[in-house]
Amino acid sequence: MSQKISRAAIFKALDTTIIHGSDSSLMAMKAIKAIDLNEGRVQISIKLQEKYKELESVIRNQLGAAILAISNVERLDLAFEWEGVSNAVSAETQNLLPTVKHIVVVGSGKGGVGKSTIAANLACVMARKGYQVGLMDADLYGPSIGMMFGVDAATGSPQISPSGTILPIEKYGLKLMSMGFLIDEDHPVIWRGPMLNKALNQFMTEVEWGDLDVLLIDLPPGTGDIQISLINSVNVGGAIIVSTPQDIAFLDAKKAIAMFRTVEVPILGVVENMSSFICPNCGVETPIFGRGGVRRAAQSMSLPFLGEIPIDMQIRTTSDTGAPIAAISPDSPQCRIFNDMAEKISEMLSL
Ligand SMILES: Nc1ncnc2c1ncn2[C@@H]1O[C@H](COP(=O)(O)OP(=O)(O)OP(=O)(O)O)[C@@H](O)[C@H]1O
Ligand SMILES: [Mg+2]
Repeated sequence: MSQKISRAAIFKALDTTIIHGSDSSLMAMKAIKAIDLNEGRVQISIKLQEKYKELESVIRNQLGAAILAISNVERLDLAFEWEGVSNAVSAETQNLLPTVKHIVVVGSGKGGVGKSTIAANLACVMARKGYQVGLMDADLYGPSIGMMFGVDAATGSPQISPSGTILPIEKYGLKLMSMGFLIDEDHPVIWRGPMLNKALNQFMTEVEWGDLDVLLIDLPPGTGDIQISLINSVNVGGAIIVSTPQDIAFLDAKKAIAMFRTVEVPILGVVENMSSFICPNCGVETPIFGRGGVRRAAQSMSLPFLGEIPIDMQIRTTSDTGAPIAAISPDSPQCRIFNDMAEKISEMLSL
C-alpha cells in the first residue's frame, strides 16, 4: 500500500512554484479549486482566466517537477478550467460577502476537538456584546450547528424572501446558516467537488446575511476542498485553531496552521480544548489529556494563545440540547472563558 502524501507539502509546492510568464504562484493567483489525494495519486483542479491558457504546458511542466518530487507521490493529474475574461470576477478581488466586515474561520487538523462548540459559544458571546454576528456551518458533510441551536430541517427550515434569497435563522441575537437546516439528518448527502463549491457559494451569495461585524465560519476538520474553496471565495480575516492537548492532535493542528499561513490567512490564535477535567463533585482538576501542551506549542510557533477550556459536562449537555452555555448561562465560569477569548479576538480585529 502507498504511503500517505503530505497535503502540507503539496500546498507548499503550489505556493512556492512561480509560474514562468505570470510572476506568481497558482496559490497566490487563487487558482486552486480542489486537491484530491488518493493513495499515490494527486489530482489538482485549476481554474484560471483564459488569458493564461498559453501557460498550460508551462504549468504542467513546473508542477510536474515540483509535485512528483514530493515523497510518496506516484502520479499527478491536473484538470484545467478556463474562465472567460468577460464573466470572470477577478480572482484577486472576488469577495462573495461584501457586507461582512470580518470573516473568522474556526478550524482544526483533527475532527471532534470542539470547533463547533467553540464557534457557537464565541458567536453567542460576541452577539451579547452588541456586535452583529453570523455563524455559518461550513461542515457540509457533518453539520452540527443545527443541533447546537436546536434547529433542524423539520422544525426550522429557513424562509425564502420575496426576492428569492434565503433568510438565515435568528437565535440568541445571531444569524445562523447550516446544511442541517435544509437536509434531514437521516439522509446524508454525497457531495462531489463541484457540488460542494456550489453549495458553499450559495451559503454566501444567496443567504441574506446583511451587515455583519463578524461572520464566524465553523469548518470541517482538516485542510480539504471546503477550506480551499472558502479561502478562494471570500477575504478570510483570521483563523482560530482548536486542538486538544494530546501531542498527536497538535501535530494535526500544525497542518491546518501551515495551510492558513501558506494562503496568508492570519492565525488569530490557538485554543486548547478539553484541557483538564474538573470533578463536579469534589472540584479536583485532572488533566486527562495533559495540559498546557497547546499553549507551549503556540508560543514556540509565535502564535497567540487564546485560552484553555476544561472538559465540562455542562458545555457538552447544553450544546447537545440546543442552547450553547454562553447563550443560557452568560455568568457561568465556563462562559467567562469564552468571554475572554472573544475579547482577545475583538481586539485583534479592532472591532
Ligand atoms: N470543553 C468541552 N467539554 C465537554 N464536552 C465538549 C467540550 N468541547 C466539545 N465537547 C463535546 O465534544 C463533542 C465534539 O465537539 P464538537 O462537535 O464541537 O467538535 P468538532 O471539532 O466541531 O467536531 P467535527 O470535527 O466532527 O466537526 C461534542 O459532543 C461536544 O459537546
Ligand atoms: Mg464541528
